[in-house]
Amino acid sequence: MSTPTAPVTQHQQGRTGASPILALDGISKAFGAVAALTDISLSVGEGEVVAIVGDNGAGKSTLVKVLSGVHAPDSGTITFHGREVSVPTPAAAMDLGIATVFQDLALCENLSVVQNLFLGRETRRLRLDTVQMETRSWELLRELSAKIPTVRIPVAGLSGGQRQTVAIARSLLGDPRVIILDEPTAALGVEQTAEVLNLIERLRDRGLGVIMISHNMADVRAVADRVAVLRLGRNNGEFDARAVSSEEIVAAITGATDNVVTRRAGRGATAAAAPHPPTPAAAHHDPEGDVR
Ligand SMILES: Nc1ncnc2c1ncn2[C@@H]1O[C@H](COP(=O)(O)OP(=O)(O)OP(=O)(O)O)[C@@H](O)[C@H]1O
Ligand SMILES: [Mg+2]
Repeated sequence: MSTPTAPVTQHQQGRTGASPILALDGISKAFGAVAALTDISLSVGEGEVVAIVGDNGAGKSTLVKVLSGVHAPDSGTITFHGREVSVPTPAAAMDLGIATVFQDLALCENLSVVQNLFLGRETRRLRLDTVQMETRSWELLRELSAKIPTVRIPVAGLSGGQRQTVAIARSLLGDPRVIILDEPTAALGVEQTAEVLNLIERLRDRGLGVIMISHNMADVRAVADRVAVLRLGRNNGEFDARAVSSEEIVAAITGATDNVVTRRAGRGATAAAAPHPPTPAAAHHDPEGDVR
C-alpha cells in the first residue's frame, strides 16, 4: 500500500544550501544488547530548523545526549563547521557552540528569572554584578520578544511557555551556533505553544541551527524546515517540512513506510522523483493515525 520514494541520503546541506554547521554520520550507540542508535546521519545548517520525530524508544533522547556530550557514540563521526570533533562532555558541547535545552528545563523554581539565567555563570568582579546581569537579562529577553513581566519574579510564578523561554534564553548566553530543544512544546497550551514556536523562528532568524525533538505534527510542520524520522534507532525518512503531510510523517514513524534500506531493496527502479533532492518527499500511503 505504499509507493516507495527516493532514498534518504546523508543530508549534508542546510536550508540555504550552505554547508551544515553540525553533521552526524554513521552514529551508533548501544546500551548492552540494546541498539539505541544505528548508523544515524543528520545535519543542521545555519538558520535552519530540523525536527527529529519518532516513537517512544526510537532513539531521540539518545541522539540528543550524544550531541550534548552526555553519551559517547560507539562509532560514527560528528562534524562541526566542517571539522571532525568529539564531544566527550557537556562542557565540551557548550565550548563548541552546541547548547541543549532538556525537557525538564533544569530551572530552579525558587530563584528569579535573572538568577536562573546566570546560574553558574554569575558575572563577577569583586561581587556579583546584579545590575549588569539584570540589564543583560532584559536585553536578551527583549531580543527574544519574551513576554516576561519582570526578571525578578521567581520562576515558580511563570507559565510553562515563559519557563521554556527562560531556559532557551539561558542557553543563548553561551552564544551557541546550534541549539537543541527536547520537546519544547510538550507541556504547553495553545497560546504558549504559539509563543515558543515564534521564539524558535527568532532563533532561526538569528542564524542558529535549531534541532527540535517533537511529538506534535502540527508544531513540526509549523516551524521546521526539515523533518528527520527515527524508527527503532535508525533513520527512517527525511522530509521537506513544507511539502510533507502529517500522515506521511506518521507513516514513517510507525513503520507504515519502511526503513530506507528495506525500501531500497524492494523498489528496483520505481523510485518517485524527489522534488527537492536531497530531501525527498515521502511515500504516499494510508495514514495509520496521528500522534497526540
Ligand atoms: N541509559 C540507558 N541505558 C540502557 N538503555 C537505554 C538508556 N538510554 C536509552 N536506552 C534505550 O535506548 C532506546 C532509545 O531510547 P531513547 O530514550 O533514546 O528513546 P526516545 O526516542 O527518546 O523515546 P521517548 O519518546 O520515549 O523519550 C530505548 O530502547 C531505551 O530503552
Ligand atoms: Mg526521549
